[in-house]
Parts: sequence; structure tokens; C-alpha cells
Amino acid sequence: MSDGTDMSGDLGGSGGSDGRDAERAARAARRDEAVRAAVEQGLLGPRTPIVGLLDVAGIRESAAALRAAFDAVAAPGTPVLHAFAVKASPLVPVLRLLHEAGIGAEVASPGELALARAAGVPAERTVLDSPAKTPDELTEALSLGIAVNADNPQELARLDALVKASPDTASPLGIRVNPQVGGGSIEALSTATATSKFGVALRDEGARAWVVRAYLDRPWLTRLHAHTGSQGIPLALMAEGVRETYALAEEINERAGRRQVDTLDIGGGLPVNFASDETTPTYAEYARVLREAVPGLFDGRYGLVTEFGRSLLAKHGTIVARVEYAKSAGGRPVAVTHAGVQVATRTVYAPGAWPLRIAAYSGKGRPKEGPDVVQDVAGPACFAGDLLAAGRALPLLEQGDYAAALDTGAYYFAHHYAYNSLARPAVYGFAGGGDGDGNGSVAFAPVRREQAIEEIVAEAGGEYGDSLTGAFRRGGAGGS
Ligand SMILES: Cc1ncc(COP(=O)(O)O)c(C=O)c1O
Repeated sequence: MSDGTDMSGDLGGSGGSDGRDAERAARAARRDEAVRAAVEQGLLGPRTPIVGLLDVAGIRESAAALRAAFDAVAAPGTPVLHAFAVKASPLVPVLRLLHEAGIGAEVASPGELALARAAGVPAERTVLDSPAKTPDELTEALSLGIAVNADNPQELARLDALVKASPDTASPLGIRVNPQVGGGSIEALSTATATSKFGVALRDEGARAWVVRAYLDRPWLTRLHAHTGSQGIPLALMAEGVRETYALAEEINERAGRRQVDTLDIGGGLPVNFASDETTPTYAEYARVLREAVPGLFDGRYGLVTEFGRSLLAKHGTIVARVEYAKSAGGRPVAVTHAGVQVATRTVYAPGAWPLRIAAYSGKGRPKEGPDVVQDVAGPACFAGDLLAAGRALPLLEQGDYAAALDTGAYYFAHHYAYNSLARPAVYGFAGGGDGDGNGSVAFAPVRREQAIEEIVAEAGGEYGDSLTGAFRRGGAGGS
């Protein structure tokens, strides 16, 4: 199968061992069989020209790999909570699947908290971080016993009042710091720059002393949090952010004369390889880098919280879209598909930072053969830049074929962007397949329905259809 991996070879892995080759092959085989089964079982077709598919076995594998990686480096008995960053895949069945696989939830809004609760994630396995928590959100979190990391002094003042009113809250509380160790290759996802909006900027004048004092004055502050950034941050820089956070915890505890900070929340951010089916870097590699850079982190004196998002889901999602028309413009073939900015927003608006592999499938859902042809793979939205890939070499996509955007399990089809009022596509989890027998052994489970046209109208203020006209136009609410 040609998937256009040449577009970003610099992101590729090191070639890998037999185990990695096997993982890669199995993942691709499962995906190919799922695409074919989706066509054969009627999930995809002329009337449902786009779906999102999630590889359930792959998600389970990643969850297990994450747990194993930290178990391998942490002292026996170290409490470790892996809290999935819900923002990466805000889908209730996915959160439930991860919960069953031993992964909790990191939430950053009332909506995300509601999703985690709907998935059955218990309060003690949930962490609330966000830069703009309202008093109501904080009150709810403390009444539920959810861990909260205060982003800034003003938020800490709110926590002071809440803790005074409810001293028995079960919520573990901490402060988020920005270690200001610098950014990565994607500015928008670099949270530890000098001027990042997140957390207390630790290297600013007086900030470190303020943080230490804040802990000494509040015996109930027992956690310390940092998230150094997401895609594009080198592992060494992530480790440096963790090292700075660890050093601060040590300083606080020394000044307090006790182990006041008992848990370090080291955030998420493991980068994802979008250039091939290989998982690289792995959780095991990151855990080893951390152990080398911050040996004390794993010696059992601190409980740990992690908040990985993209790295748990990205490689297990595929958007599959039908080629509605195949045309040519200026000598270039253009496949007009049903997947564009509404499901691949980052790629369409920032194609240099977020290139996606595209796989070509026939109308029967079989990998397309044939010589590579340089072509554009376009979306359905009405602006010229709505392209999944520009000038990509792939077997020629023809009318009725399918184009698949790979590695889109996180921050893609679950993050609908309502341009042109395009409907949110259905999402299915799949299991089975990958054995190459092609005997229709793939089963699908619904994760999210396709959005109905009536829902689009309702969400667009349909119930207020005449609110700006009639009486309002003649004088407004308070007019005469
Ligand atoms: C506080 C926090 N934790 C975790 C994450 C998850 O990052 P990633 O999906 O890159 O693992 C984010 C991403 O924005 C975040 O802001």
C-alpha cells in the first residue's frame, strides 16, 4: 500500500527491530481489513461518504505499553495515575475503554469532566487542569474530590476560600508551574516558553520564592504539576521540564521539613510519529530518558501522574472518505473527497506542521495498486486551501475510490470544525482483522452517530429563527 510516507521522512523511525516491524505490519493489516469491511458492511458508501475508524486493539496496546513503561522504571509500590488528556479524544466510549485499561482522565473544561464522568471514570482517577477555571468549576471539582492544579495566584486565592469552607475535601491540590525550559518545533503547542499562558512562570523574578512560600503557607498543597508541551517537543526538553519540577518539589519539601509534595504530575506530550506505522518514540524510551535525567523521580518517594493524550490515540484512528469527483486542474489530478477542514483542521490550516499520510483504497475498500501519481487530495469545503494533501504521490484516486487519512485518532475527527455546516461523521471502533484472511472477520461498534441535518439546524439557532426580526427589529427587547 502506498501511503505517501515520503512527505515527511524526517519524522520516520530508526528502522526498528523485528518486534517493531511486526507491530507496524499488524497495525497496517488491521487498518486495511477494517476499511474493506467498512465498505462491505455498508458503513461507507455513496450515502455515508466519510467515517472515522478506531482500532480498539491498538488503543489497548498503547494503554498497556504506557503502564508497563512506567512500571518498569518506578520503585515497586509507587502510585502512578496515567490520566488520559480527554482533549485528545473526547469520546465517551473511548474514555470507558481507557478506563477499563487502567487509564484515568485529565480534564480541562466542564464538558470534558462531564464526558469522563459519563464514561465512569471515578473522581480519584480524574485531574482538572485548565487555565480558566471558574469558581463554579472549582467548587464542583472540590465537592467531587477531583485533583486540581491551580494555574496562577488568583486561582490559588479561590482555592484558599474553598478549602477554608470545605477543609475535608478529598481533592488533592497542587500548583502548575511553567519551567520555562523553551519550546519545540510547533510554537502553538509549546507550553514552556518564557511567555506561555500556562502555570506560574517559574523563572520570572520572585516567582520561585512565591511558589515555595505558597506551599509553606498551605499544608494542603501536596502536588506539583508541569506540562512542558505537546507534539514537536524533543524528549530531552520534556525531561528537562520534569527535572526542574522535581527540583522545585525537593526544595519545597526541604524547606517544609517534611514530604509535603507527595505527588508530581509530569503532564503529557509524548510526540507521535506521523510518518510511518511505527510507534516512535515509545513510552519505554521516554521512561528511560526520564530515569536518566531525573533518577529521584522513580525512587518511590513521589507518586506520579501523567497526562498523555495524542500518543495514546493518534495512531489508532483513520478517517476514510469517498472520492466524490476526480478531476484535473492545471495538469494536476485533484481527488475531491469528503474529508477536509471539518475533520483535519490543523492539517488544512497548518499543513507544514501537521502533514498526514494518505492511503488510497479502491471503491471496494482494497488498497489501490498502480504507479504513484502526484495529485491533490481535497476536502469538501469551499475554500482553496481545503486540502488533506497537496502534490502527494499516490496511486491515482478515481471517482468512487476512498482516501484514508492515517494517524488521526487524536485531535482530528473527534474535533469537528463546523465549516460549511458539514456534518460530524460517524465514528466506529473496530476489532478483529489483521490476520490477512480477508474473511470479513472485522466487527464494528458505534462510538458516535453521524450528526443529523436537524441537529445542524438546531445547533445553528434553529429555535430562534425569528428572534432578530419581527418585534425585535421594530424596537428590540427594551425598545419602544
Ligand atoms: C495540561 C495538559 N496535559 C496534557 C496534555 C496532552 O498533551 P498530548 O496530547 O500532547 O499528550 C495537554 C495538551 O494540550 C495539556 O495541556
